[in-house]
Amino acid sequence: MGKKPVRKKINRLRGMYDILPSEIWIWQKVEKIVSEVFHSYNFQEIRFPILESTSLFHTAIGEATDVVEKEMFSFDNRSGNSISLRPEGTAGCVRAVIQNDLCNRGLTQKLWYKGPMFRYERPQKGRNRQFTQIGAEIYNIESSQADVELILMSHRLWKRIGLPNIRLEINSLGTSESRLAYREELIEYLSQYKELLDDDAKNRLQSNPLRILDSKNPQLEDIIKSAPVLEDFLDEESKQHFECVKQSLDECGIEYTVNQKLVRGLDYYSRTVFEWITDDLGSQGTICGGGRYDSLVELQGGKPTTAVGFAMGLDRIVEIIKDLNLWQPESQVDAYMIIDKEIPMQHIYKLSEQIRSALPKLNLLVNQNPSSFKAQFKKADKSMAQFAIIVGENEINNKILTLKSLKDKSFGQKELRFDDFVKTLSQFK
Ligand code: HAM
Repeated sequence: MGKKPVRKKINRLRGMYDILPSEIWIWQKVEKIVSEVFHSYNFQEIRFPILESTSLFHTAIGEATDVVEKEMFSFDNRSGNSISLRPEGTAGCVRAVIQNDLCNRGLTQKLWYKGPMFRYERPQKGRNRQFTQIGAEIYNIESSQADVELILMSHRLWKRIGLPNIRLEINSLGTSESRLAYREELIEYLSQYKELLDDDAKNRLQSNPLRILDSKNPQLEDIIKSAPVLEDFLDEESKQHFECVKQSLDECGIEYTVNQKLVRGLDYYSRTVFEWITDDLGSQGTICGGGRYDSLVELQGGKPTTAVGFAMGLDRIVEIIKDLNLWQPESQVDAYMIIDKEIPMQHIYKLSEQIRSALPKLNLLVNQNPSSFKAQFKKADKSMAQFAIIVGENEINNKILTLKSLKDKSFGQKELRFDDFVKTLSQFK
């Protein structure tokens, strides 16, 4: 016999992760809470492709953004056209809205989505190359109440999940015209300090000077501190819009700070922008970001349609829940079937199928490798099951099942005929 070839292990790609059964319950629980909360605000789910034409993201997100310049997973398909893995959901959502005529004749839409997004960033805690976003978008409501509703909805989510220490920062970017005037002023101001700017800021000076305000470089801190502020350039309508947002948040008791330097990393925003931030995650503390983007639908070839939305990073939220031990693991097993190993397995299968038909929601674990009763009870305890169903000689001979609570001593152990067994368990499931 020849030597067996040595197979090389193939690992996952950098910045991409497997979500294992041991923690999937956290993801599922967050997703469940999100879908319940979104439903209660009358949002409807939409699903759109992970792959889109590269030009869609260039148009929507902006050529001079980090995402488009450095972070896209783009490649040519077999016909030589450039396609990209979506780096975020808004561009695809807008494309789907336009293509399916969802906002026809001013129709309002409140949509939400979840799924994987891809950005070629340097991986670190809270920053992955494949990550999951859950986003919500409102189309055709120009009033500031749509902005406020999204903030209230996200606030409700943090409360339901139990996230502590989350703070809200808001700002207004005004209309694209007011931003243009501000941009000129900002370029003029920053140009005075050109020699002191780092390479990144120098590169952005003409293409995207507002993003320089976002710089984390401490050497730029003083320059940025004294820079002209966008607020002084806001048009009257944007000012009023922002005032209404703040007033409503005050009335609803939502705390916030106005951060004049909050500009967001994507070009499509106008007027309100906001971020929810935590200090529990290190430098990647933004768990949710969003804002208004009233010009994007038109920019992508649709009819003028106002829009506002947000997206949250599920990876970051799960990380906080794990780091702070916010949730205790729940049992994945409702009932553990403990079997006398002498009983033929066909009989057990028949019985367990009957139980599943009668109790479709019950999570029943049948021990397929029965050992001693003692060992099986140990395994049942370890599985954190609520009940043990015991099937031994006595049960077979008397056509009964023994149900034992593993959590509630007062329930004890009951010998039950099938109908009563189903009735008893259906009170729990
Ligand atoms: P974004 O701020 O780029 O906005 O991303 C939203 C959230 O996704 C971030 O706050 C963060 O929690 C999460 N996130 C972003 N990049 C990563 C990463 N590399 N690893 C882990 N999590 C990440 C948007 O994407 C906009 N589309 C939001 C929006 C919707 N605006 C209006 N509608």
